Amino acid sequence: MPKAYVYIANGGPEVEAFVDLPAPEPGPDQLAIAVRAVGVNPVDWKLRGGSTRPGQPAPVFPVALGVEAAGVVTAVGPGVTGFAVGDEVLGGTVGGAYAEYTLLSVALATHKPAALSFRAAALPVAAATAYDGVHQLSLLPGATLLITGVGGGVGVAAAQLARHAGLTVVGTASAGKKDLVESLGVTWVEPGPGVVERVRAVAPQGVDAIYDLVGGAALEEIAGVLRAPVGGGDAVDEPPRLITAADSATVTRLGGVAVQRARSLAVLDVVTGRAAAGVLDPHVSDVYPLERADTALRAVETGHARGKVVIEVAV
Ligand SMILES: NC(=O)c1ccc[n+]([C@@H]2O[C@H](COP(=O)([O-])OP(=O)(O)OC[C@H]3O[C@@H](n4cnc5c(N)ncnc54)[C@H](OP(=O)(O)O)[C@@H]3O)[C@@H](O)[C@H]2O)c1
Repeated sequence: MPKAYVYIANGGPEVEAFVDLPAPEPGPDQLAIAVRAVGVNPVDWKLRGGSTRPGQPAPVFPVALGVEAAGVVTAVGPGVTGFAVGDEVLGGTVGGAYAEYTLLSVALATHKPAALSFRAAALPVAAATAYDGVHQLSLLPGATLLITGVGGGVGVAAAQLARHAGLTVVGTASAGKKDLVESLGVTWVEPGPGVVERVRAVAPQGVDAIYDLVGGAALEEIAGVLRAPVGGGDAVDEPPRLITAADSATVTRLGGVAVQRARSLAVLDVVTGRAAAGVLDPHVSDVYPLERADTALRAVETGHARGKVVIEVAV
């Protein structure tokens, strides 16, 4: 029977296990796929720990970890058009991704461009979240955007999308990621005590907006480098100037907002297209076989991933 890496209850790493699960049958508007690659995201361990996603039913254990995958269609469900057995696809999974077989919802599935490998599995969550945030800020070319946690999965994508939009980007990341950050055309700033002064040294007028990917005390401290008050100007429909994907509670207290996730096929197609065109690279830094899914998840769960971590399933 096909293998899957699951959690058997809500909890820490101790509730994870490899199990044999039957290959799932596609329901209406679903694709069954043989998984070739999986993107690893912080949400994977957060869901294992008991977090919930809007609109998701309560878990029925065991639950396969992971929320995004790329692979080859093995069956199409009732009502599916535009996809056929043998198609190479990527998208958001239904019922977990760290598995030899899984399901995609056609509402969030797209054909994998030939120019991309199956590691494009790393795009649906991080790159789409990056796109949503940069789009939400609606900055004009020449504006300065500060991204905290710029060396992680969302950060490297947000930096590239922002640079492509003509923005000047300053980003915080640990010293080991300085080379990666600078290769994206981003001015690197070391986080930690004194970070506000270091940002001011490279952006003396302050920054026009902040996309936070860290939260907590780092978010509280960095909010002070905004050029204008968090709430922006007088216009009611003025875009936010402080957003986060990491910490809604803190950003709300500071007067900012959480990133508005589109979770749409349109955004998935935009980021996949940009990756195929060579203007968006998810920077997959670590690749593990499915048999080492635990190590892959720990690499992200430490909170210090470099770009994206991917799990590959051997054919
Ligand atoms: N709302 C949503 O739909 C959504 C979607 C995607 C992600 N998220 C959230 O957004 C956050 C980022 O996601 P991700 O996928 O980019 O995570 P990730 O790949 O794990 O990257 C996080 C990055 O933050 C850096 N970091 C940690 N502490 C830092 C600090 N104090 N200052 C500066 N950088 C720091 C880490 O490395 P170094 O410290 O080594 O530099 C790492 O590169 C997570 O909280 C995730 O759950 C939310």
